[in-house]
Amino acid sequence: MANRRILSLLLLLCAGSLFAQKTSITNIEPRVEALLAKMTLDEKIGQLTQSPGDISTGTDVAKDDLLNQIRAGKLGSILSHTNFQNKITMQRVATRETRLGIPILFGFDVIHGYKTIFPIPLAQAATWEPDLIERIEHIAAEEAAADGQHWTFAPMVDISRDPRWGRMMEGSGEDPYLGSKIAAARVRGFQGKDLAANSTVAACAKHFAAYGFAEGGRDYNTVDMSDQRLRDLILPPFRSAADAGIATFMNAFNTLNGVPASMNKYLVTDILRGEWKWKGMVVSDWNSFGEVIVHGAAADEEESSAKCLGAGSDMDMAGSTFQKGLKKALENGKVTQAQIDEAVRRVLRLKFELGLFDNPFQYLDPQRREATLFKEEYRKTAREAAAKSMVLLKNDGGLLPLNPGGPFNKIALIGPFVDSRSHKDYMSFWSLGIGTPYYDSTKVVTPAMALKPALEALGFQVTVSQVNLQAGNEEVTYKDAIQAAKEADLVIAFVGEHGLDCGESRCVSDLNLPYGQERLLKIATLGGARPAVMVLFNSRPLTFQWANENIESILAAWQPGYETGNALADVLTGKVNPSGRLPVTFPHSVGQVPLYYNALSTGRPQERQGQLWTSGYLDGPATPAYPFGFGLSYTTFSYEAPKLNKTTIKSGETLEVSVTVTNTGKVAGVETVQCYIRDLVADISRPVKELKGFEKITLAPGEKRTVKFNITEADLAYWNAQSVWKADPGKFLVFTGGNSRDVKEVGFELQK
Ligand code: GLC
Repeated sequence: MANRRILSLLLLLCAGSLFAQKTSITNIEPRVEALLAKMTLDEKIGQLTQSPGDISTGTDVAKDDLLNQIRAGKLGSILSHTNFQNKITMQRVATRETRLGIPILFGFDVIHGYKTIFPIPLAQAATWEPDLIERIEHIAAEEAAADGQHWTFAPMVDISRDPRWGRMMEGSGEDPYLGSKIAAARVRGFQGKDLAANSTVAACAKHFAAYGFAEGGRDYNTVDMSDQRLRDLILPPFRSAADAGIATFMNAFNTLNGVPASMNKYLVTDILRGEWKWKGMVVSDWNSFGEVIVHGAAADEEESSAKCLGAGSDMDMAGSTFQKGLKKALENGKVTQAQIDEAVRRVLRLKFELGLFDNPFQYLDPQRREATLFKEEYRKTAREAAAKSMVLLKNDGGLLPLNPGGPFNKIALIGPFVDSRSHKDYMSFWSLGIGTPYYDSTKVVTPAMALKPALEALGFQVTVSQVNLQAGNEEVTYKDAIQAAKEADLVIAFVGEHGLDCGESRCVSDLNLPYGQERLLKIATLGGARPAVMVLFNSRPLTFQWANENIESILAAWQPGYETGNALADVLTGKVNPSGRLPVTFPHSVGQVPLYYNALSTGRPQERQGQLWTSGYLDGPATPAYPFGFGLSYTTFSYEAPKLNKTTIKSGETLEVSVTVTNTGKVAGVETVQCYIRDLVADISRPVKELKGFEKITLAPGEKRTVKFNITEADLAYWNAQSVWKADPGKFLVFTGGNSRDVKEVGFELQK
């Protein structure tokens, strides 16, 4: 009997392997060389050219006839193409109607989900849960790959400290340690263990580099920074993505210290390819090669082609700069054939690694597409992620969660985002295809759709007043809302930003609630007389002074995606205890920007507002409204002082930090225990805090747990004045707590 069972198991395993996904493609290099040797110069330049598909995500560029371009061997890749049937046709033309049959590479911005839309990346960062983020990207990759995409232009790993910048929503916030953990998780989620599998896509670390420090928070603007800050703050998440095996990088639009990133040899050749020994393919940003001319760093396409290719950048996204100038650059000796060949190798290598030469249509299977897109299980993860991303900023008197038997019975749901059916809301510009038939905003669960029945099921009476802010005449516009507020015991106001008002080229000079919403809050809460909850739909830190002072509970919901309403219902009714923690600092006012936790002490740190001769303001605080790492729960946690296994460590030794946390409240909750260090005396001034560890724990009421963090000399190193990554001996502090402000500390020494 046993033998028969073993035999049947063996047969099953064999059968399984017959249909298992391809294993990684082997023997690539000889195939790359053999193909390269056959290619003409035009065919090589064609492989370095990428054209836009049926969605434009940038400035207007000549709309090529894609099929003719492919047939002529002038195109190696297409970005932002949504039409599945078109992609099949294009792949057929590329592989059957061209001289060498080189497959087309399809790229797409899969930024926070592909067809199933997840919370924006900044919201995902607020979960402080890399494993969840990896799961999200795995789902996004499954849907994208099933729809014929081979390559996502993500993760965006730009550190930023400037909420005026519209693209903060695409990243993981202000901290390099959190950003590095998330960058690696996204690469694992997208690429999995096998790029040739038809459920994974190549990822792309962007924008290399320092795009998030554009002056004035204005997109595409100048970036100037010390090498010390570049190395210490900006590069770690890129290094983390490179070390995680990311397949591609993307240039940034900005200049860095005067040199456009697309032609920045220091970044692309010296650091990325030299120091880090990264061997992948670098794609420009949208026409960023052509914009080198506009930056005034090249006279024409010939010079720009030479400078960008010469810096180590390989593929020209939109704008056709290489088509216009690379051949001339070669003829005039500004680039070498070897440089062109090396760039082409990187493109061909990626196509081999994706399995495109072995089966150009493996990502274009209509049955698989039908079976994969919009799976119900994907929405469950979207709902989990949205609920976990929400950050409870204020909850005076424990007004939340809403449960029966409390002081409220009639609840008025009010505001422009209580039941918006517009594709502009709860998502972002990067829910690509937004506003087109490709993108179905009716799949969004709005707050009213989920919260009204959920609250009614608990016995509450609920009214809904969707307010159109652009109406103009506020009294008329708000009439219903005012009436609803008068008749209610509690108002829940849904305010904030349109999702479409954030993202690329959507920067703001004012962080206050837009469209006069603060006035709506005052009116709808009857001047603050009505107990109220403010649910904020934000893609970045916003400022809301009146609400901070007059509204009992404030929940930052970010742009939560398809499961907006269900996640809000879960959190507001207490089905899910909020556990989000801020990945960025929330200032009191835009005038404080940039404001961040890992700042230098200055020679005159301010201890209290108004203290003269110190680094502060006459007209307001120098501290944030809500600090990095902050978030409340429906329970409370207490922290004992951190304990160390030793008070000095030498090179090679590990400092073990232990901290005991107790749930001192009445309900179970999830706490993100955070560990920071400070280098008290170094060769140069160092930040007053640096995140070096975090761990999410779930505690039942009364339960306590000891969390441990290991600190080594490598964790204490920084890019010093001699341009060396090194730790200085001397005294340090360790801080532990539930955010970057409310911490307890203990000292130790690093001895050389
Ligand atoms: C855009 C963005 C970049 C995106 C690319 C393709 O301009 O800067 O992040 O991947 O173009 O859409």
